[in-house]
Amino acid sequence: MLFSALLLKKITMIKNTPINFDVVKRKIEETNLPDIGNASIREIVRLVNEVEAETGEQYIRMEMGVPGLDLSEIAKKAEKKALDDGLASKYAMIEGVPVLKEEISRFVKMFLDIDVKPQGCVPTVGSLQGSMILFLVANRTDASKEGTLFIDPGFPVQKLQCQVLGHQYKSFDVFDYRGEKLRDKLESFLKDGKMSSILYSNPNNPSWISFTESELKIIAEVADKYDVIVIEDLAYFGMDFRKDYSHPGEAPFQPTIAKYTDNYVLLISSSKSFSYAGQRVGMMAISDKLFQRKYSDLKRFYSTDGFGYSIIYNTLYALSSGVPHTPQYGLTALLKAANNGEFNFREGILEYGKRAKVMKKLFLDNGFKLVYDNDEGAELADGFYFTISYPGMTGGELLEKFLYYGISAIALQTTGSDRTEGLRACVSQTSEDKYSILESRLKAFNKEFSGK
Ligand SMILES: Cc1ncc(COP(=O)(O)O)c(C=O)c1O
Repeated sequence: MLFSALLLKKITMIKNTPINFDVVKRKIEETNLPDIGNASIREIVRLVNEVEAETGEQYIRMEMGVPGLDLSEIAKKAEKKALDDGLASKYAMIEGVPVLKEEISRFVKMFLDIDVKPQGCVPTVGSLQGSMILFLVANRTDASKEGTLFIDPGFPVQKLQCQVLGHQYKSFDVFDYRGEKLRDKLESFLKDGKMSSILYSNPNNPSWISFTESELKIIAEVADKYDVIVIEDLAYFGMDFRKDYSHPGEAPFQPTIAKYTDNYVLLISSSKSFSYAGQRVGMMAISDKLFQRKYSDLKRFYSTDGFGYSIIYNTLYALSSGVPHTPQYGLTALLKAANNGEFNFREGILEYGKRAKVMKKLFLDNGFKLVYDNDEGAELADGFYFTISYPGMTGGELLEKFLYYGISAIALQTTGSDRTEGLRACVSQTSEDKYSILESRLKAFNKEFSGK
């Protein structure tokens, strides 16, 4: 009797959630996913859109890394001019417009302190096209090799790219292998000589860890030992806000693998650092040596054995025949202004760091813990993402419960992380006016589940 009364009370309490319990439950059931923790970013987006539409309630949306800031007028003006100049009716050259190639080359010199000739600086349709192109070329340089090693956690779409291409890939969660331990772990994957490329993002999506200089050196040394091409994904360029990497030609510079090996390609997205996601324009910087390198096995697929040539005139050609003119000119204007010290890209995006600082505190004050929380002992930066867990819950359970509390996120298990208890929180859509709602929902959540 007492037990059933208690049970009844619990159910009534749980049903009294910030978002209508029955609607959320039905919508989750309609996904037909046995574990909501396996839902992709886009599946969560759809689910939450539907609940919002039916209930009229707004979520604290932390599932998708949409830039929450405006594009600079500098880029808009340059795009408009390109349009007015009649460029929309003309094909753009596949390798990119020369002014943009020059500015990308200057940009990597000014902000990474590395030399890459304009010929290896190539615009792509978002940096996601860059990774697709690289899998298609790097993973075909040697007939005896078969794919990519991902240093996880990571961005799931890049593994999807390998899957749709039918390429093999391997991955491991770097959580327990920071510092010198990384060397043996990498060796264990590369020693059979089967991997063509290594990919990681730095700062990392989703964990926001950043490799230290000594870790980058280790990755480079092991890659050179096994002749593996390193794809360094700088999707969050300059966004490790612990240091200011935004002054052209002045240290500190954004850390990069390019300091330690010639076997690299950098993917530099403009989506987050320049709030330029919608126009789908990114950049690739191929090391001068790698650009010129010849791999006879490429001839199985391409007209030449040249790495750089196969990237541009075979693969980028086959995929999209280059990048539209107007975003190329918009990006050129932005890079030029940044290179000349007239546009500080960091100032605008620092907002993400401010949001993360407040939001992390709200979570920590309400019983949550950070999952990935240090770089070889140093506290992580406040930035675009952070990772959280709640005692006694798996990531899938936490995500499901959050949906009733008007908060959305993605489970770390979908990113190659072994930390199955964790969620990734993205700060980009949570502006200051939403902090108090987040706080009240987290308080209600903690009151319900802390057992206090
Ligand atoms: C790690 C990582 N790489 C690549 C991308 C894709 O960037 P783009 O918009 O330039 O295609 C993202 C976007 O979220 C990302 O997080």
